[in-house]
Amino acid sequence: MAAELRPRRVLIVGATSAIAAEVARLYAGRGASLVLTGRNPARLAAVEADLRVRGAASVETEVLDVLDRDRHASIVKRAFAGGLDVALVAHGDLPDQQRCQADPGEAARALELNLVATVELLTLLANEFEARRSGTLAVITSVAGDRGRQSNYVYGAAKAGLSVFLQGLRQRVHAAGVSVVTLKPGFVDTPMTAHLPRNPLASSPRRAAGAIHRAIESRREVAYIPWFWRPVMALIRALPESLFKRLQL
Ligand SMILES: NC(=O)c1ccc[n+]([C@@H]2O[C@H](COP(=O)([O-])OP(=O)(O)OC[C@H]3O[C@@H](n4cnc5c(N)ncnc54)[C@H](OP(=O)(O)O)[C@@H]3O)[C@@H](O)[C@H]2O)c1
Repeated sequence: MAAELRPRRVLIVGATSAIAAEVARLYAGRGASLVLTGRNPARLAAVEADLRVRGAASVETEVLDVLDRDRHASIVKRAFAGGLDVALVAHGDLPDQQRCQADPGEAARALELNLVATVELLTLLANEFEARRSGTLAVITSVAGDRGRQSNYVYGAAKAGLSVFLQGLRQRVHAAGVSVVTLKPGFVDTPMTAHLPRNPLASSPRRAAGAIHRAIESRREVAYIPWFWRPVMALIRALPESLFKRLQL
């Protein structure tokens, strides 16, 4: 079916994430066709059922642990089989920084999921969009990648690497009419951050999702989620290292 005649088709990788599930609701409410992947089958089924009652034109699901790279190609192929307008890559894991410091294997595992396996999947998605000369590839990185901090620099390094990857990819696929949207949330109240002290600047997943949906649909290059993290991070990046190293952040 021609792209303009069929419902918008959206792939969400890591669709059981609290933020991604809210983004999926926004697309479902607009009658989109959704292709969802998630690691946990029961949670994925719950998200699917929710989206069906919210108006999704169709919902397809695939159980995927992103570290299971042998399955990337078949999942990408299936998602593109019906034409694809948007891919949102949302999975991620916040490692325990203390454990990463004590155990190099733990640091490597955090980089493996948040950067290496994610880059492998994005490479396949980008190549398909580029070959079709249309589409939007949106990826959730983090403000944590804007400056390394002692409290989460392994996670921050993965997200920084991912952001730079997306920057280069954006330049590469621009000529083919493909958009790459880098999404940088600040603190969002989700299961990932539930064990951390509440941040006064924290957003709800729903608020974050609204900003993410707008950024994707307007094909923004880099969106801070919510917007105020852009000036906050500009200030943090501007601090000289000689001062920054003394701060307890
Ligand atoms: N919350 C924040 O403050 C914040 C800030 C900046 C950026 N982010 C980013 O936002 C994204 C969404 O996170 P969230 O805050 O919504 O947290 P969340 O609800 O805990 O979602 C994290 C998701 O990642 C999935 N995941 C983890 N490892 C995976 C793997 N190996 N394969 C497939 N899926 C895997 C989890 O699946 P399971 O359901 O199976 O666990 C879960 O669906 C992440 O990329 C995160 O780094 C979050």
